[in-house]
Amino acid sequence: MVNNRFLQALRRQPVDSTPLWMMRQAGRYLPEYRELRQKARDFLDFCHQPALCVEAMLQPLRRFDLDAAILFSDILVIPHAMGMNLAFKEGEGPVFSSPIRTADDLKALKTDTLTPHLSYVFETLDRVKPLLQVPLLGFAGSPWTLATYMIEGRSSKLFRSIKTLLYQKPQVVEELLALLSTHLMDYLSHQIQAGADAVMIFDSWGGILTTPDYHRFSLKPMQRMVQGLKKRHPHTPIILFTKGGGQWLEAMANTGADALSLDWITDLAQARQRVGHRVALQGNLDPLILYGSPDTIRSHSRRILEAYGEETGHIFNLGHGIDPHTPPENVTIMIDTVREYCRNKRMAA
Ligand code: CP3
Repeated sequence: MVNNRFLQALRRQPVDSTPLWMMRQAGRYLPEYRELRQKARDFLDFCHQPALCVEAMLQPLRRFDLDAAILFSDILVIPHAMGMNLAFKEGEGPVFSSPIRTADDLKALKTDTLTPHLSYVFETLDRVKPLLQVPLLGFAGSPWTLATYMIEGRSSKLFRSIKTLLYQKPQVVEELLALLSTHLMDYLSHQIQAGADAVMIFDSWGGILTTPDYHRFSLKPMQRMVQGLKKRHPHTPIILFTKGGGQWLEAMANTGADALSLDWITDLAQARQRVGHRVALQGNLDPLILYGSPDTIRSHSRRILEAYGEETGHIFNLGHGIDPHTPPENVTIMIDTVREYCRNKRMAA
């Protein structure tokens, strides 16, 4: 590995320049991805082909000066491996044909080890690793976030189905979460064995819960995963990302995770004060700022670097995934701003 900044910052060691990568850095905003995507029948078929996934991961690294590569896959390959029928429909997003609604539905899920059904993911990691000069980040969805898709059956705004189940039969939801956290821990452990240098847990929907329910249904299963992974892989950094989780940062830092990823609503300087030096912080540019004017992109990028301040332990990123219509040249403006800011700091020091 030639450039290790990302891992150094995750470990809160000094770095020569703030490391930077982007959530969803591989994907539809890149014309070369849209072209590559034609080679597969649909998105799920794409995910099952390691050669295509490797190429998709390399595309943003060729175009931009980035400090990490992220596995190309999707969080929903886990419920798919558990036997749930999944389709990604154009313009509709993911759809499960038979969502889980009862305790009986849980019994239909595969509960033996899932890793043989996910060998294509480990093959992607294995193949991409020797081609990289930056650290390799693996990932999984959080148990709660996967449960929302498995119970709703699709993307949702109100989360009526899972909340109804949660408020009527919380033990059914808890049973599903326990099952998922066991499988997800094992899945991330296999990713680490296949070459992932760090892992990130995407809790996209923890932020829809009340505070006590966030602790019980989202944070607790993630904490179980962190503790299990730390036992097996004590030196592999773990990043937690609860979108909308700004008010729970102290509790998230107490899980034993190495870093927290922040959405753009959370104030980075305040977050830094609240969690002190216990964890590194990743984030947190509003991805929609990349639709702004060059000056707006530059000033917001600098604002974030200034908000974090002098200390190590910051990884520059977006507050959520890059939007599919973002002009790639605006990404270059953001990255150049971060590099220039860090160069000037270094020269002034
Ligand atoms: O570059 C990367 O960041 C790695 C790849 C990655 C994808 N999905 C590829 C993808 C990662 C890390 C994810 C995570 C993911 N997937 C999350 C958590 C992060 C978040 O955004 O909150 C969630 C909730 C999903 C589920 C999912 N996958 C949805 C809701 C959708 C459809 C909506 C959309 O953005 O189109 C997907 C599809 C998906 N996952 C695409 C990509 C590149 C687009 C599919 C395509 O190419 O047609």
